[in-house]
Amino acid sequence: MSGFTEGADAGASVTSTVADAVRADSSASVSDATMLRAAPTPGAAASGVVWLVGAGPGDAGLLTVRGLRALESADVIVADRLGARGVLDGLAAEGVHLTAEVIDVGKLPGHHAVPQDAINALLVREALAGRTVVRLKGGDPYVFGRGGEELFACQEAGIDVRVVPGVTSAVSVPALAGIPLTHRGVATSFTVATAHDQITSLGGGRDHTVVLLMGVGTLAHSAVVLARGERGADCPVAIVEDGFGARQRVTVGTLATIAAQAAERGVRSPAVVVVGDVVRLSPYAPAALASLDLTFDPLAVPRKAPSL
Ligand SMILES: C[S@@+](CC[C@H](N)C(=O)[O-])C[C@H]1O[C@@H](n2cnc3c(N)ncnc32)[C@H](O)[C@@H]1O
Repeated sequence: MSGFTEGADAGASVTSTVADAVRADSSASVSDATMLRAAPTPGAAASGVVWLVGAGPGDAGLLTVRGLRALESADVIVADRLGARGVLDGLAAEGVHLTAEVIDVGKLPGHHAVPQDAINALLVREALAGRTVVRLKGGDPYVFGRGGEELFACQEAGIDVRVVPGVTSAVSVPALAGIPLTHRGVATSFTVATAHDQITSLGGGRDHTVVLLMGVGTLAHSAVVLARGERGADCPVAIVEDGFGARQRVTVGTLATIAAQAAERGVRSPAVVVVGDVVRLSPYAPAALASLDLTFDPLAVPRKAPSL
């Protein structure tokens, strides 16, 4: 296994106010910043500690301050590629100097360079050696991130684990396309699922937003399944590819058209798929889709692409 070798991603940036605030507070120790940390594991050995940190969707500005403090305190950072890499590159570009050894376990959708068992064993080994380990995971560790498995593996080995939630792609990537997952009068709830899940059993109509992660490969099938229910074939759909990355792109259609559009445009992972009437609120929605009848018409307000 090797550390990151490529240069900083010029596209990534850190919100300067956040970076400045953290630098100004650099005298605070990590333990000062963990008031909400999990209680120490009963029987924990006097070993190192594992921090399970959500990196957010890939922009260093969306890493939490607590997550950054954990990174600064780390001896070793065990990092996914999706999300985590962009954050480390972005921090470096901002001049945030991390002294930890970085171990890239290379998790990309459908391609796990290091098997989960080996990642668990690595975390345990490093912590038992007395090191402070940050497991930096894309988005939030507990949203389709196998964070729970890593937590339990460490706890079984008697290692103290602290968890820092992250900004999940399920919410932040749709926001890039101007899509609020709930919006008064349009949608009252949302479900995050993967295409591997039993989306057939998902209830609700277009006012129940569905967010699919890891959904590109099975998009055609998912669209057919979701169109069979109350949503119907003309239910709006958006795909947001590579949110916060160099390939960021939005494709908007309906359950009837989206698979063909995705094929034509060569849509690729990582991407977040949003299904429901909230897609109409996106500035990327074609006028024909946006102007379909809505009893409550938030579209009457002039819209523009959001800045995140
Ligand atoms: C294994 S799941 C991990 C989700 C992560 N724990 C989270 O909370 O965002 C990986 C999937 O998240 C989505 N994803 C994560 N980051 C993304 C990004 N920057 N742009 C688009 N999709 C992203 C994609 O659907 C990808 O296939």
